[in-house]
Amino acid sequence: VGALLVLLWLSVCVLLFLLLGGRPKNFPPGPPPLPLLGNLLQLHPTNPLKDLDKLAQRYGPVFSIYIGGRLAVVLNGQQALREALVSQAVELTGRPDDIMISHMTEGKGVILADAGPSWKAHRRFALSTLRNFGLGKRSMEDRILEELTHVCALLEKSAGGWMDPQHLFHRAASNIICSVIFGSRFHYEDHYFQTLITMIEDINKLAIGPWAMLYDIAPVLRVLPLPFRRVFQNYQLLREHMQKVIRQHQLSTHTHPPRDMVDCYLQEIHKRAGDGSSFDDSHLESLLIDLFIAGTDTTSNTLRCACLYLMTHTHIQERCHQEIDSVLGSRECVSFEDRHSMPYVQAVLHESQRVADVVPLSVFHTTTAHTHIHGYAIPKGTMVIPNLSSALREEGQWRFPHEFNPHNFLNERGEFVKPDAFLPFSAGSRVCLGEVLARMELFLILVTMLRRFRLVWPEDAGMPDYQPLFGATQSPKPYRMGIQLREHT
Ligand code: HEM
Repeated sequence: VGALLVLLWLSVCVLLFLLLGGRPKNFPPGPPPLPLLGNLLQLHPTNPLKDLDKLAQRYGPVFSIYIGGRLAVVLNGQQALREALVSQAVELTGRPDDIMISHMTEGKGVILADAGPSWKAHRRFALSTLRNFGLGKRSMEDRILEELTHVCALLEKSAGGWMDPQHLFHRAASNIICSVIFGSRFHYEDHYFQTLITMIEDINKLAIGPWAMLYDIAPVLRVLPLPFRRVFQNYQLLREHMQKVIRQHQLSTHTHPPRDMVDCYLQEIHKRAGDGSSFDDSHLESLLIDLFIAGTDTTSNTLRCACLYLMTHTHIQERCHQEIDSVLGSRECVSFEDRHSMPYVQAVLHESQRVADVVPLSVFHTTTAHTHIHGYAIPKGTMVIPNLSSALREEGQWRFPHEFNPHNFLNERGEFVKPDAFLPFSAGSRVCLGEVLARMELFLILVTMLRRFRLVWPEDAGMPDYQPLFGATQSPKPYRMGIQLREHT
């Protein structure tokens, strides 16, 4: 009976596709699709970025593709990305109603929540809490510097040898976000911490890959014990963790000023009581999970990419050492304000973000109303894929688009400049909510590390491989990092 149902369902899909498979009038052009698969065969399953480049060359910066049976518009290059994400910001605020993701998150949280009053209020709350950081005595900067004492202690232990920095950066980034949202951190070797991190990695992998697609297009398969079940189990476990944290905070909410984001949110629930707002415990759980997920891989992968290039471009690392030493002198700590006196380090950091290309296809958007992009008519509810990667290596936008070169961010006078094509955080109404936190983390961590240590590519490590592993977040392949204590520190 199961097989017959699947067959019947497939036939209905093929029929519907043949009847409705064309593109609407004045819609962005694109390659002809196959029934059911759409244009999936034209996209490399492990890294579609080169194929998207080829399609952009053929059909222009705004083209369309079928992902399975779903038609999507792809934006390529800084001009098309800015025109759509910034000029049409309001119309592009939606998120696709991916069935698996909406079943998992129940439409709550921020990252994958569709445009609407709840997304807007939660985004505003999180932004203002992160920006003003009404979190009492410990500023965001203090929390990052505190985590750095643990990072440096671990690096010191490895001095004279080498380590794989993945474990360290992942935990450091995760702990900073934990400190901001729950006011506490984990020991790096804590087993429970490891479990939480593995669950997030698993959700990231499964919720975006082929299993999610299968879940969405074949409801009859949902009852089977397939790997997508794990996404729901993991998400539920994360929820339970957040519930525990919230309960602990509820027992001591009288704390003034608030210690962390959970305290701020609980005060907000109290303030908004009775006004019909969506602020409640279950929305708080979703917000915390979102920030925990969004704030870990992204920052950690960028740091790993920066270290990879610094180790293998020793003259660039040397210039960073010189600038850091001359600006900080004998001062004990670095501050985020110091970035204004360190144009070269700033350029190196931004160049690392450019080549790291951590969120290559952003998070997909949908149109909330009928709109126009690049002269094409885009109906309400159309999925839009911002190809951020295309802008970060776009010829004509960068002096050295295909090499690691800090001069992409320096003018003739050696001043730091940020070209318009620098869009790793995206742009418009959905622009990354953690941008300020991420930039602060990247600067403070890199400067503190380079001040005390020299990063060395191990002699027996062979040629470095710069090609990242593609995913919802891209990451450098695992590598070993040699650590030397700098002499005068
Ligand atoms: C969204 C990049 C760090 C929280 C995004 C998006 C990108 C991005 C490309 C999608 C924007 C869009 O939909 O157009 C990055 C990069 C980071 C980083 C490159 C680090 C180098 C962080 C951190 C946090 C965070 C540390 C945590 C505070 C979020 C959230 C969203 C988001 C909550 C969803 C915003 C919304 O849908 O309204 N980020 N991110 N990100 N990011 Fe980040």
